[in-house]
Amino acid sequence: MATGAASANLEDVPSLDLMSELLRRMKCSSKPDKRLILIGPPGSGKGTQSPIIKDEYCLCHLATGDMLRAAVAAKTPLGVKAKEAMDKGELVSDDLVVGIIDEALQKPSCQKGFILDGFPRTVVQAQKLDEMLEKKGAKVDKVLNFAVDDLILEERITGRWIHPASGRSYHTKFAPPKVPGVDDVTGEPLIQRKDDTAAVLKSRLEAFHKQTEPVIDYYSKKSIVANLHAEKPPKEVTAEVQKVLS
Ligand code: AP5
Repeated sequence: MATGAASANLEDVPSLDLMSELLRRMKCSSKPDKRLILIGPPGSGKGTQSPIIKDEYCLCHLATGDMLRAAVAAKTPLGVKAKEAMDKGELVSDDLVVGIIDEALQKPSCQKGFILDGFPRTVVQAQKLDEMLEKKGAKVDKVLNFAVDDLILEERITGRWIHPASGRSYHTKFAPPKVPGVDDVTGEPLIQRKDDTAAVLKSRLEAFHKQTEPVIDYYSKKSIVANLHAEKPPKEVTAEVQKVLS
């Protein structure tokens, strides 16, 4: 971004917002760098815990599912290629997702580290990530494994409602919005994801067990996997995450 344009825009930012951003940056400067991977089946709570970890450690949150859904909605060439696999609950090609992560990791917000949510999902993706990081003299610090039995995931997935613009996630039973069907912050309508049906969940779980579980073994060999009890209520999972990362 051009510096001139940035400072001109800053003049229009309310002082209170500027102050809180300044305070946030001061708090962040004392935080250790962290490079984290969140891995787990659909509905295991990765997207629920990510914003909490992001705020605590000042990391960027890169969720390949969200990035791909944005590309599908914008009908970009990437989105057109990804749509068919996503609708069926299958994985999109390794080359596509590796490309978007490689680009996203260059962002200034990833300077203090990152949370990868939904990536890597195959051993090939994990190897490519290691290569990307090696070039920068970095490596993954911790892999949080959201372990949970398949049987409880259908209720979580079919009851989920999201606010597409912010990615905020709700659940009719476990995390209901203040007003049904409406985002708490903006008052805008919530939607259900196209792949959040019991039928598509079956394919997503199959893909997880076949293609993504080997990724957990890949990182276990490097002794960086922390297993979480992701079947517990969200606050208890947050406490486990905090313990693991402290
Ligand atoms: P993606 O968007 O990554 O979906 P996912 O991995 O299936 O994960 P979800 O977003 O469904 O689950 P979550 O763990 O974030 O659960 P949440 O916290 O929302 O991927 C979608 C598709 O994109 C893939 O199928 C694939 O096609 C493609 N794709 C993405 N990445 C790819 C890659 N790397 N390679 C190839 N293809 C890729 O929680 C779910 C619900 O439960 C919420 O309503 C929440 O409120 C509630 N909840 C959360 N935690 C709890 C709890 N502890 N107790 C009770 N309720 C809870």
